[in-house]
Amino acid sequence: MKLDQARILLTGASGGIGQALARHLAAQGARLLLQGRNTEQLTQLAASLPHPEQHQIIAADLCDPAGRNTLLTQIADLSPLNVVINNAGTNQFAWLEQQSEAQIHQQIQLNLEVPILLSRAVLPYLAPQGVIMNIGSSLGSIGYPGYSVYCASKFALRGFSEALNRELQGSGRQVLYFAPRATKTSLNSATVNAMNEALGTQSDSADVVALQAVDALSRNQLRRWVGWPEKLFVRLNALFPHLVDKAIAKQLPIIHRFAHASQKGD
Ligand SMILES: NC(=O)c1ccc[n+]([C@@H]2O[C@H](COP(=O)([O-])OP(=O)(O)OC[C@H]3O[C@@H](n4cnc5c(N)ncnc54)[C@H](OP(=O)(O)O)[C@@H]3O)[C@@H](O)[C@H]2O)c1
Repeated sequence: MKLDQARILLTGASGGIGQALARHLAAQGARLLLQGRNTEQLTQLAASLPHPEQHQIIAADLCDPAGRNTLLTQIADLSPLNVVINNAGTNQFAWLEQQSEAQIHQQIQLNLEVPILLSRAVLPYLAPQGVIMNIGSSLGSIGYPGYSVYCASKFALRGFSEALNRELQGSGRQVLYFAPRATKTSLNSATVNAMNEALGTQSDSADVVALQAVDALSRNQLRRWVGWPEKLFVRLNALFPHLVDKAIAKQLPIIHRFAHASQKGD
């Protein structure tokens, strides 16, 4: 995928990974449609990018059908799109029984239903060699305590990406799946950051993750996981899940302690 002059829709552009992606894509000469929910934040972001005159913003809540419709109207004006990056996402670190129905619904809706609905809606506006990139997670391949709902949404997003890519084979269009590991953004609470430190879990900067995503995009790489040993664990979990069961069982007391702290609001 040639990124210079490529027309790219980036959801979740105001977030940690989204802003870094916007910077690196704009530096490559891409023309961006930046989606978030806050107009002021998006305006500031667009103005700070290389070639600000090339970019547009759209403030829309993607969990609201009206918000998705507003976005689609703007997409129709920009058609054909070369790339759509489904990056907006959310998570909730908590034991399942501590999660409210609303929290469960929000994670499944934003992380899974929205990328599915947007992919379906943008296909008619996607260029013949166009690409959809779905931002997953290492937790889309490894079931992890405290993240059962988030894992469910990202496992399903990975399956959706694979199936849709196979559905589009021969059409020239592709669906890529890109999976960061823990990344230093406001998605993770202070408790989660402290837990990651206690577990020795590596955390990347959003800049490192964005560089890797742009590289995967420019190579049309169908699947990429970020970070070592996560790449190994993804494969190990697929082939020998009982080994990963044992490794995670050893971490469980620590995870439990932080889930408890999280519940108390520490
Ligand atoms: N950070 C990590 O550790 C990590 C690890 C692996 C994968 N990921 C994945 O990477 C992606 C980006 O995460 P991030 O860390 O950059 O998160 P973030 O900093 O929290 O940003 C989330 C983005 O999603 C947008 N968003 C939230 N709810 C929305 C809604 N209802 N409608 C439209 N947009 C909405 C936010 O917009 P507002 O600014 O308006 O709230 C923001 O732009 C997510 O898919 C996440 O699952 C993150």
